[in-house]
Amino acid sequence: MEVKTSLLDNMIGVGDMVLLEPLNEDSFIVNLRNRFDHNEIYTYIGSVVISMNPYRSLPIYTPQKVEEYRNRNFYELSPHIYALADEAYRSLRDQDKDQCILITGESGAGKTEASKLVMSYVAAVCGKGQEVNKVKEQLLQSNPVLEAFGNAKTMRNDNSSRFGKYMDIEFDFKGDPLGGVISNYLLEKSRVCKQPRGERNFHIFYQLLSGASDDTLMKLKLDRDFSKYNYLSLDSANVNGLDDAASFRTVRNAMQIVGFMEAEVQSVLELVAAVLKLGNIEFKPESRVNGFDESRVKDKNDLKEMCELLGIEQSVLERAFSYRTVEAKMEKMSTTLNVAQAYYARDALAKNLYSRLFSWLVTRINESIKAQAKTRHKVMGVLDIYGFEIFEEGDNSFEQFIINYCNEKLQQIFIELTLREEQEEYIREDIEWTNIEYFNNAIICDLIENNQNGILAMLDEECLRPGTVTDDTFLDKLNTICAEHQHFESRLNKNSKFLTDHSLPHSCFRIQHYAGKVLYRVEGFVDKNNDLLYRDLSQAMYKATHSLMRQLFPEGNPAKVNLKRPPTAGFQFKASVGVLMKNLQTKNPNYIRCIKPNDKKVAHIFTDSLVCHQVRYLGLVENVRVRRAGYAFRQPYESCLERYKMLCKKTWPHWRGPARDGVEVLLTDCSVPTEEFAYGRSKIFIRNPRTLFTLEERRRACLEDLATLIQKIYRGWKSRTHFLLLKKSQVVVAAWYRRYAQQNKYQKIKSATLVMQSFVRGWKARNILRQLKYEKRCKEAVTTIAAYWHGTQARMELRRLKTEARNKRAVSVIWAYWQGTKVRREYRKFFRANAGKKIYDFTIQRIMQKYFLGLKTTTMSPMDNTWPAKPYGFLEGAHTQLRRIFHLWRCKKYRGQFTEEKKAVYEEKLEASEIFKDKKALYPSSVSQPFKGDYLEIQKNPKYQKLNSAMEEKVLLADLVNKINRANGKGSPRLFLLTKSNFVLADQKTGQVKASVPLPDLASVSVSTQSDGFFALKLKEGSASASKGDFLLSSEHLIEIITKLHRIGTTAADRDQINIDISDEFLVQFKQDKVCVKFIQGGPKNGNSAACKRKNNRLLEVSVPSP
Ligand SMILES: Nc1ncnc2c1ncn2[C@@H]1O[C@H](COP(=O)(O)OP(=O)(O)OP(=O)(O)O)[C@@H](O)[C@H]1O
Ligand SMILES: [Mg+2]
Repeated sequence: MEVKTSLLDNMIGVGDMVLLEPLNEDSFIVNLRNRFDHNEIYTYIGSVVISMNPYRSLPIYTPQKVEEYRNRNFYELSPHIYALADEAYRSLRDQDKDQCILITGESGAGKTEASKLVMSYVAAVCGKGQEVNKVKEQLLQSNPVLEAFGNAKTMRNDNSSRFGKYMDIEFDFKGDPLGGVISNYLLEKSRVCKQPRGERNFHIFYQLLSGASDDTLMKLKLDRDFSKYNYLSLDSANVNGLDDAASFRTVRNAMQIVGFMEAEVQSVLELVAAVLKLGNIEFKPESRVNGFDESRVKDKNDLKEMCELLGIEQSVLERAFSYRTVEAKMEKMSTTLNVAQAYYARDALAKNLYSRLFSWLVTRINESIKAQAKTRHKVMGVLDIYGFEIFEEGDNSFEQFIINYCNEKLQQIFIELTLREEQEEYIREDIEWTNIEYFNNAIICDLIENNQNGILAMLDEECLRPGTVTDDTFLDKLNTICAEHQHFESRLNKNSKFLTDHSLPHSCFRIQHYAGKVLYRVEGFVDKNNDLLYRDLSQAMYKATHSLMRQLFPEGNPAKVNLKRPPTAGFQFKASVGVLMKNLQTKNPNYIRCIKPNDKKVAHIFTDSLVCHQVRYLGLVENVRVRRAGYAFRQPYESCLERYKMLCKKTWPHWRGPARDGVEVLLTDCSVPTEEFAYGRSKIFIRNPRTLFTLEERRRACLEDLATLIQKIYRGWKSRTHFLLLKKSQVVVAAWYRRYAQQNKYQKIKSATLVMQSFVRGWKARNILRQLKYEKRCKEAVTTIAAYWHGTQARMELRRLKTEARNKRAVSVIWAYWQGTKVRREYRKFFRANAGKKIYDFTIQRIMQKYFLGLKTTTMSPMDNTWPAKPYGFLEGAHTQLRRIFHLWRCKKYRGQFTEEKKAVYEEKLEASEIFKDKKALYPSSVSQPFKGDYLEIQKNPKYQKLNSAMEEKVLLADLVNKINRANGKGSPRLFLLTKSNFVLADQKTGQVKASVPLPDLASVSVSTQSDGFFALKLKEGSASASKGDFLLSSEHLIEIITKLHRIGTTAADRDQINIDISDEFLVQFKQDKVCVKFIQGGPKNGNSAACKRKNNRLLEVSVPSP
């Protein structure tokens, strides 16, 4: 197959009808046929795409094709639906213009396929990512679900959409899809109950019965056999090429992807099953007394099953099929239904149930696919709506009327958006505009939708009118009101010209649509417009336990009874078309005009008459004319200059100056005839696409040259870079090699040099060594010789000196002898008289000198008792005297260093020694203890502060003593304080004075001879203190206490000396009686301290441990 790539290639026929010459209907169709025969199914009229249904799959929707058309100029490649999709998507993304894609054409022309192609292209080129892909997938998967429920096989199309669909796809600022909104229009619900010959019900019924598992069918109480169901016509239940079972799986999968819960899917299938069951309910007449027939359900099995499925009470539904409640003026009346009415009611219920289910599906899908983000969206709307429908032999009914009305509206929006917008742009751009005549179908729209006398308004009026209303009364009304309208034709019209028109039956009216005349049969108009469902039925449905069912029939809620009639079908449709039109008007339109080539749904057949008919009513030739009258192509100066600047040397590569001037220079340079273009304010307008294509052709050629140039420069650059790289590498390699060679050479030279060097050094060293050895030997020889020589010399000298000395000594001896002899001779007479005494004195002097020097070693310590032994017996007396004198002298020296305090201490110690030495055994141990006096630290200790302050004089001694109790001999501790004038006994704990005795009252002190610390202070008889008796105390510092007492007595001039009585037995005068204190030597077992015991009334025995 030959597939052309560009409009500029040698096209099959003409790719853009605007270029068609000559332009007429025939040439138009020939061109279409020519292209169709060569598998070129797409042709442009400017930016409108004509799409012929190929009825077979062509390899033109591959991912490669998507890439080919992505971001390419509309005219660059051969016509394709992708080019239109790309253009729309890019201007949405880049120029922020909301888009709508209007797909029109008759049934089977390929609208639904085209809409899916557009969606899949946009999905392929827009952003990617996990979230975005999920959105895309949900948007795409909404199609199979809606097709299953809303499409059916018809005579014209095996997959005919029986509803209109408009889908807004929402994008964010980057062009990534965010979600979508689907609107559905007028489902052909009559199909649920009855299908024309050769057609079948909606796909889902067949898909469910063929594809569901046995288990599911059992749950739904269904049978796989189509023939069991009245609503499924049998003659075309199976469609060639349609695999219902596989489709069912696809649909279920799609529902899951879109986001249906399993329970929701189940509910939906239950309702589908309910519709089938409903169709099987049949009625029989039952005669009543009043002569009227009343309908009764014939076989209740299906009714029962349906009620079970939906959870409705059987009797409620059964009653609703037999009676009807009519409410008027707050009164309720029940009338019976005859069999025909029961069937009508049943079908109305089935139709309503199904169409409401379908609307619910759309709402549910919308819920899933709605954009989450609340940011501003850009929108691309895709409208796939039923095309113009004309059935032969006036078989057109209310549905066709509605559908054709919708197409009229679409045509009008096409006119408005294309032609008006075109004119406005010309005015804006200041381009001269020659008005083009085109047919404005506003008048037809008015005939149908006018609120006062439009056909729809009159139908509504008729439906709401009291009294008998039939289709005929409606036609009568039309005949009177629309008689004058030039697009309305009727036999009974006042206009006589149709009276004899036999092609116009009495029960019909004809409208001259913009696309041709259509004959409508009025039968059923009123009923279909009323779309009546008895309230009893909707109430019965609301009573169901099935939640979805209740949701679908909210008006059945008895709490919300609304006596107002529901809006008619015509009214609803008009309103929704109005909303749609408003929506489309805000968007930039893109058109896809679908044409079906034959009626047989087969490939390769092109039926001229059929195509001609479609071309005519789609107004395509007229479309081309309008396009040609104006300027086919326009572009802002900047982008035009950017695209074609390479065609002129002056503008290539850069044009400096206003873009408009650049374009002018460019077009002049390209010799484009001046009548071919016009300069707008911001855009250049080119009349004929051929001019544009010529420019494109030249551009392509130029691009080829430029490509060659770029290639040349690039190759040159590449080779040069390569060469430079090689050169650089070579230099590096050479440098490395040279370095390596030089290194090798150097290493060799170095090792050779080292060898030579070592040889030379060795030789030199050996020479030096030899020389040094020789020199050393010479030196040794010289030294030896010199030594020997010196030795000889020295010996000779020694010998000489010895001889000399001998000689000298001999001379002096001789001389001395001689002198001696001489002296002796001379002094012999004096020697005998004096020499003896002198020698004696000298000797004595020497000896004494030596003796005194020997004494020098003695130390200065008074404690040192050492003294050298006497050297000679004759020095004995002097030796002892000297020792004594020396000792006294050094003692004096020692004392001389004492301070006054220390002197006093020693004096005390001396006194102690005088008192106790050799008298009391305790004394020796006290010698080494210094007399501290204040053992209690009475001045510093805060405990005795009070006591201290009570003392009038300086405390000489403060100590802890035991006061011996006469009664048991035990001691109790007391503080003993001594001042110059008295002694005090105080309580140890409280410091309270117990006794204060002036010293003059103290007569004597008694102590033992032993090593104990007991002492008795005896008071003078008759003194003030004597009344309390003597004190028997013991103290560790006895020696000190007694010495201090004695010393005070010695020093005080006014007092007598205190007697110190040392004996092992003395009397103590306690208060009344005298007690004898006796000291005995106790064994060591008594412990270390003396123990006092009372022996009897007159004796206290103190046992002192033996030392
Ligand atoms: N581009 C195409 N390539 C191949 N086959 C196509 C193409 N377009 C349409 N067809 C075939 O034509 C059939 C009918 O197309 P489609 O269902 O899109 O028609 P339609 O215009 O939507 O009709 P209706 O108004 O009845 O819904 C498709 O089922 C498909 O077999
Ligand atoms: Mg369709």
